[in-house]
Amino acid sequence: QPVYLSDYQPPAYRVTHTELTFDLDPAATRVKARLLIERNDQISDEAPLVLDGEQLKLISLAIDGNALTEADYQLDDNGLRIHTVPASFSLESEVEIAPSTNTALEGLYQSSGMYCTQCEAEGFRRITFYPDRPDVMATFTVTVIGDLQKEPILLANGNPVASGQLEGGRHFVKWEDPHPKPCYLFALVAGNLHKVEDHFTTMSGRDVTLQIWVEEENLDKTEHAMASLKRSMVWDEQTYGREYDLDLFMIVAVNDFNMGAMENKGLNIFNSAAVLTHPQTATDAAFQNVEGIVAHEYFHNWSGNRVTCRDWFQLSLKEGFTVFRDQCFSADTNSAPVKRIQDVSFFRTAQFAEDAGPTAHPIRPDHFIEITNFYTLTIYEKGAEVVRMLCNLVGWENFRRGSDAYFERFDGQAVTIEDFVECMAQASGEDLSQFMRWYSQAGTPEIDAYGEYDYVHSEYRLTLRQRTPATPGQPEKLPLHIPIRMGLVGTKSGQDLTLTLAGEKLGKDAVIHLRDDEHTFVFTNVAEAPVPSLLRDFSAPVKLNFPYSREELAFLLTHDSDGFNRWDAGQRLAMLALDDLIAAHRNGVEKVMDSRVTEAFRALLTGSTANKAVLSEMLTLPSEAYIAEQQPIVDVDAIHAAREFVRQSLALVLRAEFMAIFEANRTDEPYAPTPEQIAQRSLKNIALSYLMSIEDEKAVALCEEQVAADHNMTDVRHALTLLVHSDRDDLSAPALKAFGEKWAHDPLVMDQWFTIQVTRPQPDVLERVQFLMQQPAFSIKNPNKVRALIGAFAQNRVNFHRLDGKGYALLADVVIELNRLNPEIAARLVTPLTRWQRFDENRQSLMRAQLERIKKEPLSSNVYEVVEKALA
Ligand code: ARG
Ligand code: ZN
Repeated sequence: QPVYLSDYQPPAYRVTHTELTFDLDPAATRVKARLLIERNDQISDEAPLVLDGEQLKLISLAIDGNALTEADYQLDDNGLRIHTVPASFSLESEVEIAPSTNTALEGLYQSSGMYCTQCEAEGFRRITFYPDRPDVMATFTVTVIGDLQKEPILLANGNPVASGQLEGGRHFVKWEDPHPKPCYLFALVAGNLHKVEDHFTTMSGRDVTLQIWVEEENLDKTEHAMASLKRSMVWDEQTYGREYDLDLFMIVAVNDFNMGAMENKGLNIFNSAAVLTHPQTATDAAFQNVEGIVAHEYFHNWSGNRVTCRDWFQLSLKEGFTVFRDQCFSADTNSAPVKRIQDVSFFRTAQFAEDAGPTAHPIRPDHFIEITNFYTLTIYEKGAEVVRMLCNLVGWENFRRGSDAYFERFDGQAVTIEDFVECMAQASGEDLSQFMRWYSQAGTPEIDAYGEYDYVHSEYRLTLRQRTPATPGQPEKLPLHIPIRMGLVGTKSGQDLTLTLAGEKLGKDAVIHLRDDEHTFVFTNVAEAPVPSLLRDFSAPVKLNFPYSREELAFLLTHDSDGFNRWDAGQRLAMLALDDLIAAHRNGVEKVMDSRVTEAFRALLTGSTANKAVLSEMLTLPSEAYIAEQQPIVDVDAIHAAREFVRQSLALVLRAEFMAIFEANRTDEPYAPTPEQIAQRSLKNIALSYLMSIEDEKAVALCEEQVAADHNMTDVRHALTLLVHSDRDDLSAPALKAFGEKWAHDPLVMDQWFTIQVTRPQPDVLERVQFLMQQPAFSIKNPNKVRALIGAFAQNRVNFHRLDGKGYALLADVVIELNRLNPEIAARLVTPLTRWQRFDENRQSLMRAQLERIKKEPLSSNVYEVVEKALA
């Protein structure tokens, strides 16, 4: 039952205005709707009115006040069809829904007693009968009726226009949203909430009230989100000329939420993990994550809400653009090179894996069964990389003019990816037709590069060959337009050389364009032999292979003018050493550490530490997941052993240097999530990690001390993790117990308590997971708990991939249970099993067996789609 992009038809009927009244009750909420509907002129008078509706109990139905009888319509599990309707009319309906038993967390549901909604993508159809598609945009008036005691706060989109008391201890608030919107942006929240309020004056001088609504005990955890919101509002005005357009902007924190957050017009709903922070409960990474997500949702007000998507195939139109916007915001607010390094290392690990697996899909898919399965790294992160390439291709000034044109031309409309790219083409005069292939071709392009220096003619010839591997449904690929930012670093001078191509001087850092399968670029007047620095700042989302020698990588590590590529040279150098060690482990040969890596680390540790944030990234080895991505067949044990060997070898030789870094970066300053402090903590804690890899006695004592000092969660969590992941159970067991008791009341800290335990390398983890699942702090109905315990366990490579298959079976058990409770989360959780092709035969068959077992269940369309692809 897939839906195809090519089947798109404009809606036969439009809703111009939507009036809703909710009479809240946990088991029987009544929803009355009055929709003003008009037939699309292009459509014949005979067209029936088709409305989506799922899990709704129909109470009554009328057109212009005249009740309909069963002969007038047809009702099934997916909705309602009314055979004949006038050209313009009002449809009145009443339905009953049950928020308290809604464990899927789509539509209207209860979370910690509070009512809230999640409508994107297709949740609104679980609230009322409606044309649930983003190209139907209406103004909304919403009245919420609740219990004065249990739901003193009643929120919806827009501005409150009326409120009052009703009989029986009930009350109501009426809300009006003047901006036409698709129903996926509808939101309602009701409960016993408390607010923190602030104000923002927009660039045109309007006063906007900002509110963050939370449970009472979380009132002290909103400061950072509020500050982030204000910074985002300024940034979007200054960078994109976008101003907020209502008098009120609200954020609500809820505990049960499938994703990070949702950009409902004027009423953003957040997973509490994506908004609440406190130095004592949240790590630096959590602070930065909150800042990015607050910005992301706020930026959607323009890229998503004012201009939205015509259909769900265009999802990346709003998500790719908005992720690009939030990435740039975070880069401007913190350390730009570090932000880029972190984004790219995550991207190359997780998105590349998705692109290489059975669920690979283009940024604009051409069909899907279940759209919630497409809120992916490809749509979001690869989409953002493609927008970034566009921005670099046309240049920021043109990009900004294109963006202005896009927001102006399509304001209040539901549009396509072509509409967006066309604005950029017009603003710049660039031909972007070949570039459009990025949107329709799945898979990660690979570039094989090699270069030759010709001493006689002072020429450097760089040959680039591109190839995109086949992906499901796309056996053949066309060449892409790939912008490659590069430099040639002179081996004598250590400086970037001037690039001259076909007689044209391009400067010392330039972009070359690969459009064909293969092309040789001949640089002339190259006075000395260079080492090429390619794909600077990760200028395209591709894999680039160049046969660098270790000496060349060590050279780039110190001389490349591009910070990102200096880091990348270090990663490549470490990868070469790791490859040797993985092979040695597999062949049972003694492991020998590559001294070039040790010397590179020594230079980093003892050199000038001007940029601590970048330095801590340089000292971080590629993750096991990233290393695995580079292997044709993943050997989890060899990867783990090789990486540990490198860490221990470095720690043994550079013990004093690591200790010096640790000492130099301790501070008694009160906690602040500033880039400087974050970099300092990160550097200090990385040093501690290395020292703990050899269980240095002094480091063990420092970990204990750091946990006990309890300065902030970053330090506590890091040190506690190091203890728990070491073999010192005598120390870690009591520390874990104390931590768990201290924070039993705080679900977000308990999530961390789960994760710390189930990510340790020791072989007792599976039993621990089973034990922890029985603890009162765990609930399978809470997505954060599932991610913190089960999701984290599935990332524990040595334990999840146990040879007895028990890790796979445990995951499958949880997927089967969640398939009934929360299909969206179930379909996400199954992902690690779908990557079976990457493992040895024994593990392959164990993983497949679990997929087969899942497939025998009565499956939700979500899990069905993923499992079906994985076994195809
Ligand atoms: N638009 C939201 C965001 O990117 C995510 C919505 C996710 N919805 C879903 N059903 N998974 O911020
Ligand atoms: Zn988004």
